[in-house]
Amino acid sequence: MDLQSVVDDIYADLAPRIGEGKVADYIPQLARVNPAQFGIAITTVGGEVFSAGDAAVPFSIQSISKVFTLTLALGKAGETIWNRVGREPSGSAFNSIVQLEQEQGIPRNPFINAGAIVVTDMVLAGHAPREAIGEILRFVRYLADDETVGIDDAVAASEQATGYRNRALANFMRGFGNLQHPVDHVLGVYFHQCALAMTCRQLSRSGLFLANSGRDAMSGHSVVSNRRARRINALMLTCGHYDGSGDFAYHVGLPGKSGVGGGILAIAPGKASIAVWSPGLNKVGNSALGSAALEMLASRTGWSVFE
Ligand code: DON
Repeated sequence: MDLQSVVDDIYADLAPRIGEGKVADYIPQLARVNPAQFGIAITTVGGEVFSAGDAAVPFSIQSISKVFTLTLALGKAGETIWNRVGREPSGSAFNSIVQLEQEQGIPRNPFINAGAIVVTDMVLAGHAPREAIGEILRFVRYLADDETVGIDDAVAASEQATGYRNRALANFMRGFGNLQHPVDHVLGVYFHQCALAMTCRQLSRSGLFLANSGRDAMSGHSVVSNRRARRINALMLTCGHYDGSGDFAYHVGLPGKSGVGGGILAIAPGKASIAVWSPGLNKVGNSALGSAALEMLASRTGWSVFE
């Protein structure tokens, strides 16, 4: 299969639609991003990279970071993390608070904000906030095999200044005893992980271990066990797109994780890790063109896990 032609064709087919969707504006710094951008990159388990469009432009990965912090927390605390966060799709928006009260401060899954904040609290254990941010950054640089990956401090500050809902979620969970560190410390780390800036090429490289049974196919390093990779993929498939998760599975059929910066990381197990980015979002807050691109990719490659 000629994957360079696949990404070139997807780019050409979507070019007339570039700019579609609505850029997230609840974080002021994200609202400033030029919506007329679209990139796609594929890193295969054979170590080849194919890309098209704005695949070398860094963007705010936002909630895609939740995959990396979940991986770190599982490494630190193992399966005990499931005492504090669930594994069920929420059927609600990423920042919803409604289920938290009924479910005694135990978030539905690690990919909604409340769940990710609990996961960040676990990553923080034994560290000062600054060290935890450093640990997350080092882990992502290691996965990307690229020391130039950084954090956009302006985005982190912007979210810090406007993160009222996240503060509400965190305080609520602290009230239920499900956060062990001060709310300000946990959110300080959470806002910085969300502000990681990466290109599609770097992001697709970072997800490669999930496409290759837990082993980084290019370096040969074992990142997680085969079983753990399978389980992270299962969570991405069922919970990676919030209340759009069912629709994403229906149209694309791959484990995926979206972010309000307009990025999506998708995993084709045994085949490749794919990153797409276009800032305009659809009604449920996932990249409009990114979702369309992944649907085209899955149908043109036959990579759907249900194929
Ligand atoms: O917590 C927030 O609101 C953002 N830092 C991340 C949200 C996000 O990416 C949700 N994704 N679609």
